[in-house]
Amino acid sequence: MRVEDEHNSRVYPKRGMQIIRGQGARLWDSDGREYVDMGASVGVMNVGHGNEYVTEAIRQQSERLMYVYSVFHNDQREQLLEKLAEITPDPLRRSFLCSSGTEAVEAAIKFARGHTNKKWIISAKRGFHGKTYASLSATWSRKYREPFEPLVPDFEHAVYGDIESLREHICEDVAAVLLEPIQGEAGVRLPPDGYFQQVREVCDENGS
Ligand SMILES: Cc1ncc(COP(=O)(O)O)c(C=O)c1O
Repeated sequence: MRVEDEHNSRVYPKRGMQIIRGQGARLWDSDGREYVDMGASVGVMNVGHGNEYVTEAIRQQSERLMYVYSVFHNDQREQLLEKLAEITPDPLRRSFLCSSGTEAVEAAIKFARGHTNKKWIISAKRGFHGKTYASLSATWSRKYREPFEPLVPDFEHAVYGDIESLREHICEDVAAVLLEPIQGEAGVRLPPDGYFQQVREVCDENGS
């Protein structure tokens, strides 16, 4: 812990324990103490630590091929894209693969602006979308935003779950409305029933 404290960037304050192993929902620290990972490591380990199917797939693939540049087709990418096309609702047929939430949001904003040729992005007050520049511009909390201003222009925040607030913000120059299905960082906050259908309608009315 002393060596890590000396050399890490200090972006994330540490909790004074060193986690070195996980199995299923359990974690162990370097003193052998056992913990239950109630948050599934921020949702990233929701299939459990040391999951045998995941570790075996990683072992097999890393022996065969660790990386292939995106200009080539690949058998494994093909399977994932096909599965995503199966489980995403119509008319979604294509996916852009990336490795983190903030990258996915960044990509979504670029696709929306590029596709619509419009500029405004409306997200929600108390929403969280990541910490790279465009994702951070969609994120609400001042504590994340202020140290890095100026952010990307033309982002606004409507009240989450309030369709009238969205109507007040939307206009014909809105490229996308970006919302969490359940707000996480703000607490576990669900919108009223039917909210997302109404959001879709408001977007359709404005070509967003
Ligand atoms: C709703 C939401 N969007 C985006 C992100 C950013 O994801 P990542 O930390 O993988 O970049 C998070 C992370 O907690 C999130 O909860």
